[in-house]
Formats: sequence, C-alpha cells, structure tokens
Amino acid sequence: ATERTLSILKPDATRRNLTGKINAVFEEAGLRIVAQKRIKLSDEQAGAFYAVHKERPFYGSLVASMTSEPVVVQVLEGEGAVAKNREVMGATNPAQAADGTIRKLFAESIEANSVHGSDSLENAAIEIAFFFAQTEILP
Ligand code: CMP
Repeated sequence: ATERTLSILKPDATRRNLTGKINAVFEEAGLRIVAQKRIKLSDEQAGAFYAVHKERPFYGSLVASMTSEPVVVQVLEGEGAVAKNREVMGATNPAQAADGTIRKLFAESIEANSVHGSDSLENAAIEIAFFFAQTEILP
C-alpha cells in the first residue's frame, strides 16, 4: 500500500551539504518527497520528538546534537514507504549498516547518523503531524 513516513536529515548531514545526495537516494528508491522544510529545532521540540528515549543515557547528547544546526524534515511517500525508508537508511549504527545505505555512505557515528526515519506506520502518522500541517503535504 502507499504509505507516508517522516524523515529527518540531521545536522551532521546539513552541515556537510549532503541534502541533495541523500534526497537522490530516496528518489532512486522510489520514495517521493511530498513535503520538505529546513528548520532549526528548539531544545523543547527535539526533547519532545525524542521523548521515547528520555531515560536512555544518550538522550541529552542526542537533543544537543539535533539542535546544533538546521535539520531538513520531510514526508516521504511510496509503496511500503516506512519499511523502504528504513532499508535505504541502514542500521542505526553505521558500523553495522549494509553497503549502499545512507548511513553506511554518510553517517559519522551512531549519534551523528545523518538521517531519522519513522519506525512504524503508527509512529509515522504521529511524527508527520509533529512537523507538518496537512496543507503542507503535496503529493
Ligand atoms: P534515530 O533513528 O533518530 O533514533 C534515536 C537516535 O538516538 C538515533 O537515531 C541516534 O541518532 C541516537 N543514538 C545515539 N546513541 C544511540 C544508541 N546507543 N542507540 C540508539 N540510538 C542512539
């Protein structure tokens, strides 16, 4: 089925001018960018977005890194978009990511891992609504 998923190009990616190269990987995989904006996350926004990780030891560092530079938030649409995006992103830890994946190609570390993607269809809807109004999504 056609799905939508929330994608974030993280500060390590925007800092290294990789927006276009990463978007090309999505498009070549058949994912369509149906909404996109470049924003600077506040501490409050990043903390709320990653609230599920609040008790993890990396939470403070993650929030600090996500607010350090602008990010690009996007809605990707396509057949099985949630799983397809996770496939093209590769494993969270770039050391474990498969060849050809975005994290294998571009990530600097497990934290500065270049991209975020929703982990389920249910979370995709929540994460898309966190950043986008329906009127900003243009398939
Ligand atoms: P993301 O897919 O955005 O989800 C949570 C983020 O926490 C993850 O990518 C990484 O950027 C960051 N992170 C840092 N350390 C870890 C870790 N040990 N395990 C999982 N995620 C981590």
